[in-house]
Amino acid sequence: MHLTPLLEQYQQIKNKYKDTLLLFRVGDFYEFYYDDAKKASLLLGITLTSKTIGKGAKVPLAGIPVKASENYIAKLIKNGLKVAICEQLENPDKAKKLVERDVIEVITPGTIFRPSLLDENKALFVASCVPDENIVGIALCDITTGDFSCGEIEPGQLLEILTRKEVKEVILPQGITLKLDIPITAIDGYRFIYEIAYQQLKEHFNVIALDGFGIEGKKLAISSAGALLYYLKENQKSTLPQITKLNYFDAHKAVYLDSATRKNLELVINIRNEETKTLYWAIDNCLTPAGKRMLRNQILEPLIDCNTINERLDGVTELKDREFLRKQVREFLKNIRDVERITTRLMCGRIMPREMNVLKDSLKVYPEIKSILLNCDSPILKKIYNQIDNFDIVVQKIENAISPEPPATLDETGIIRPGHSKELDELREIALNSKEWLNRFQTQERKKTGISSLKVAYNTIFGYYIEVSKANLHLIPDYYIRKQTLVNAERFYTPELKEFEEKILGAEEKIKNLEYEIFIKLREEIAREGNKILNSTKAVSLLDILQSFAENAVLYNYTRPEVNEGDKIIIAEGRHPVVERLMEKGSFIPNDTEMDRNRNQILIITGPNMAGKSTYLRQVALIVLMAQIGSFVPAKEAKIGIVDKIFTRIGASDDISRGVSTFLAEMMETANILNNVSEKSLVILDEVGRGTSTYDGLALAWAVVEELHNNKKPRALFATHFHELTKIEDFLGGVKNYNFLVKEWGDEIIFLRKINPGPSDQSYGIQVARLAGLPKSVIERAKEVLTKFEEGEVFSIRKLKKTKLSQPDLFVDKK
Ligand SMILES: Nc1ncnc2c1ncn2[C@@H]1O[C@H](COP(=O)(O)OP(=O)(O)O)[C@@H](O)[C@H]1O
Ligand SMILES: [Mg+2]
Repeated sequence: MHLTPLLEQYQQIKNKYKDTLLLFRVGDFYEFYYDDAKKASLLLGITLTSKTIGKGAKVPLAGIPVKASENYIAKLIKNGLKVAICEQLENPDKAKKLVERDVIEVITPGTIFRPSLLDENKALFVASCVPDENIVGIALCDITTGDFSCGEIEPGQLLEILTRKEVKEVILPQGITLKLDIPITAIDGYRFIYEIAYQQLKEHFNVIALDGFGIEGKKLAISSAGALLYYLKENQKSTLPQITKLNYFDAHKAVYLDSATRKNLELVINIRNEETKTLYWAIDNCLTPAGKRMLRNQILEPLIDCNTINERLDGVTELKDREFLRKQVREFLKNIRDVERITTRLMCGRIMPREMNVLKDSLKVYPEIKSILLNCDSPILKKIYNQIDNFDIVVQKIENAISPEPPATLDETGIIRPGHSKELDELREIALNSKEWLNRFQTQERKKTGISSLKVAYNTIFGYYIEVSKANLHLIPDYYIRKQTLVNAERFYTPELKEFEEKILGAEEKIKNLEYEIFIKLREEIAREGNKILNSTKAVSLLDILQSFAENAVLYNYTRPEVNEGDKIIIAEGRHPVVERLMEKGSFIPNDTEMDRNRNQILIITGPNMAGKSTYLRQVALIVLMAQIGSFVPAKEAKIGIVDKIFTRIGASDDISRGVSTFLAEMMETANILNNVSEKSLVILDEVGRGTSTYDGLALAWAVVEELHNNKKPRALFATHFHELTKIEDFLGGVKNYNFLVKEWGDEIIFLRKINPGPSDQSYGIQVARLAGLPKSVIERAKEVLTKFEEGEVFSIRKLKKTKLSQPDLFVDKK
């Protein structure tokens, strides 16, 4: 089949971007052809038509207007697709033959650069991995901030790290597969060869060896970093100047939280996969986008180092106590926009005129923040002070060059401020005066010819012309030169008009070029400061986190935890930071906690449904976690012996989202805890063993508690409905029983939500069922059956025959 030149060009480009959906610019539209058209039409709900490719033959076609393309692109990316944007590289009006086109950008789920498609609160990581027998090389990069790191991890850690970093795309050597929910891109395995990758990195960082980055000898880390850099450069069509450092990624520097734990504790997404009512939701009081991202990442990777934590707590204390300082810091931070991402765009040459002003307005605030931190006492605030640079010169340069209200893109004029360039001002003067000149010219020609309807106008194809209607043609003078014939009129020009046209069109072209030139020069000058800006912004982000903690402490009555290397977790009047916020102020009932690796190593917590067990368990874990990111905590007092890992398991029926073989999954996860737990860990088990029959479940729960007690001895909280499990306290010295009391008040059950020492000796399930509206007769009968069970009678129809019950009610006031 013979293709039209346009489709031939399309084919050539598409061949280079086979695994993408190609957006092919034709005039004001992006067009999709062939299978891409079908896919796009299906995903975007746009009409599928066809385009003629030769004599009578057609190919499928779909299209989207360029102006409305962002939303469509966002949708494609959300669906895990890769999108290549192919633009017209020359002005179609001027192109002699077929307009030259090429791909200027590839957007994949992990490599998005357009501000409109990015989530301000979240990092955007793309990872590359290369597995060996017992280790995996991993590299991570966020092109929107320039964060780049690599490391070597155990295979078992891979999934945890990918989810903890919220990685959006994974690069693998061709032929290697991984079972992941994250989009995968396979690239030539050649890129992962150590020597090739090493070379790639050396060239990028312009160094002779990688010693400076502390990764020398880490072959797999280097392989994955080099391959990732190669992929990003190809895909971004950029030298990636924003990537100026390669950090060694140490998986053991943060508290280990597996994905089940992140989800169970509802850290950044809740159990229903929503981004609300999470810990992040409750404690994010940051004011800058980069601060918000840093906090989110911090919650997913809490600190382990006691000194770092206490240094932060000192800073928070100072900000909390000095109200005026805090208020000032907050006022200034409010004026800072996403400097981190804008600076990255600056460094890559993608910054737009308006962003330049946003950058300027934000950087203006830096010295003001610096000045208010000048007389702070806490070392961390001093450090922040020292790390923030002054950008007066940058601010001045932008201020002098850029219009106060510049256009959004570089295609338009009006970017440069009047008075900045004499040449530009003169050209603008000419352009401005042209309107007047044209008016004058029109009046003059009307007078000369006596044609009152004569019009002088402009269009892009024919330029300036004089239009005379057919009826008046006999009046035109002989120096009018014909340009174009219409149905009712003729268009002419004169040497005078031609001369004007050359001058004015020249001026406009020159204005555009000159503005562009000035902008690029400014961009390059400021980009040299990019690294410094990013560094300062890191400090500002940390300040933002600390002020957020301080502000929360005031707003929600949080207190400073004492964080140490000991083994105790002592909390007085602790509250759940999220649940308390969803309730009326003051109605959440605080509870105490005392744990250590001695007599209070494992707390077994019993009580009826709805009593508050799960909330309590999570509250303890969240308070520990908050303390370890340097935050104050919702409690009257808290002493936290640092934990290195937090594990949580939630029994089957509390976790609706899981599949059929829940019990199996539960046991596998429990096994995983028992295998990975250390002396410093915190374990939360909520109704584990629920997914099976009572005896199996109880036996397993019993064995798990024994193992935790006798082996690594992590601190653990175990909520259970097997109240037989409470007997284990008699056998194991480190186990303590607690229960949640419930009171009966007439026909109602009152949940006291208060934890008490000792086991709860009864199951209150039946009473709760009554609350739920089960008929009285059913409730009575259930009580009867229960008594039989508890007397140890075997299930037999004869024994369960209805008898008159004189059993006292299960709910007796214990006091
Ligand atoms: N300390 C508390 N103060 C006030 N309300 C609470 C408290 N703890 C729990 N609740 C409320 O009780 C409900 C049930 O708590 P939950 O912890 O799920 O109970 P359980 O796990 O024992 O079934 C929660 O949704 C919450 O609204
Ligand atoms: Mg529960």
